[in-house]
Amino acid sequence: MLFDRVKPLDQILETASKRSLTRQLGAFDLTMLGIGAIIGTGIFVLTAVAANKAGPGMMYSFIIAGIVCALTALIYSEIAAMVPVAGSAYTYSYAVLGELIAWMVGWALILEYAVAAGAVAVGWSGYANGFLREIGFGLPLALTAGPGDTIKLADGTTAQGSFNLIACLISLLITWLLVIGTSKSAKVTAILVVIKVIALIAFIALALPAVDGKHFEPMLPNGWGTPLSGVGVLGAAASIFFAYVGFDAVSTAAEETKNPNRNIPIGLIGSLLVCTVFYLLVAYAAIGSTGAQPGGELSHSKEPLAYILRNLGYPQIGNWVAAAAIIALPSVILMMIFGQTRILFTMARDGLMPQEFASVHPKFHTPHVVTIVTGVAVSLFAAMFPVDALADISNSGTLFAFFVVAIGVMILRVQQPNRPRPFRTPLVWLVGPAAVAGCALLFVSLGWYTIKLFLIWAVIGLVVYFAYARSRSVLAHGERK
Ligand code: ALA
Repeated sequence: MLFDRVKPLDQILETASKRSLTRQLGAFDLTMLGIGAIIGTGIFVLTAVAANKAGPGMMYSFIIAGIVCALTALIYSEIAAMVPVAGSAYTYSYAVLGELIAWMVGWALILEYAVAAGAVAVGWSGYANGFLREIGFGLPLALTAGPGDTIKLADGTTAQGSFNLIACLISLLITWLLVIGTSKSAKVTAILVVIKVIALIAFIALALPAVDGKHFEPMLPNGWGTPLSGVGVLGAAASIFFAYVGFDAVSTAAEETKNPNRNIPIGLIGSLLVCTVFYLLVAYAAIGSTGAQPGGELSHSKEPLAYILRNLGYPQIGNWVAAAAIIALPSVILMMIFGQTRILFTMARDGLMPQEFASVHPKFHTPHVVTIVTGVAVSLFAAMFPVDALADISNSGTLFAFFVVAIGVMILRVQQPNRPRPFRTPLVWLVGPAAVAGCALLFVSLGWYTIKLFLIWAVIGLVVYFAYARSRSVLAHGERK
């Protein structure tokens, strides 16, 4: 049978309880961790992409994507508090929907994490290259973007990219840090969160007073958007969804959390809430102060928030905001690559990925093989693709995973109504279907190109499962790990 290999929840919980990660993170740490993973390339860079797709209507895009994420966070909180183990959506699906779906979710999470890491690296390189140019050490333009990406500078110069050197290098540097054992430290995360938040507050404080109603006209130059078109308000919402991704990183710290039943929902929902408020203010201030029409100056900028401040007559603060992005964004890359390695590690432990992926370095005690493989892949994505393409591809994987988790949580309510649920999604029969519908809506609003790539990726995943993983599954062989 195809759908009968389910890893019982009790077995998953038992595996987790044998591991001895210290439970030391509280609600505040988790909220910081969430904000640390959420605020990144999305708000600092994709604001320009959203402007190009929707014009000032991107304000609605931020709201729509925020609502879909809020619904998903409520759902995630229920399952993450119930099954406080690493592995996130992959593990939950294994318990509820069986191995095949779990495999597909794990496969899609490769898009969510590894491709997202590439997207953040490319976003970071926009600010880093701008900074190097400012101080007179700018790289040749062809080395500041991947092939197919056009660079347009404020002075009107344009050039074609060929290899995004600095995005590639930052990915390799972070991979090395992860191999030698650098991990998310709660203290460093908190400092970086403060830096990012101060940068956003400075931006809002300076741009908000410059808001002029005329910049909101026309509000919807590309309309609401049609499915598969990838433009309009919905197309921009599907892209800007990337800005909110990362709150689920809170659930990956489940095994290290004190009182996870209470603190995980607080961390998940709290971090998302804080970021949503900032995002709406940033979007409103960006549009209102500068204008956001498709094809306009803002829509081409690789460092839009710094561009806006410079444009408003605050070049120095613009540089400080760029510096904040340069300092803080690498931690988002680190979290994404970290998340990816832990998911592949868990899949390898379950026998579904090569055993080498579960091997641990004798000196550094890190899963070095899977980290290096992931890091090299990320650095190539980062060198070759533009940020909007990577963010959209990543979103396709994330939306699929969120969609499956929402269905899984509802199924579990029916199948195991009496299992203790430390956090219950309120109005689950409303929130659940709304989350499913929201994820589906954003998914079909991605461009056809992205959806086609997702489908090709899914077919490759199915082939690998049946040709390789299925016969090697630990669960199928009855061994307990
Ligand atoms: N939400 C994260 C970012 O925008 C992935 O960089």
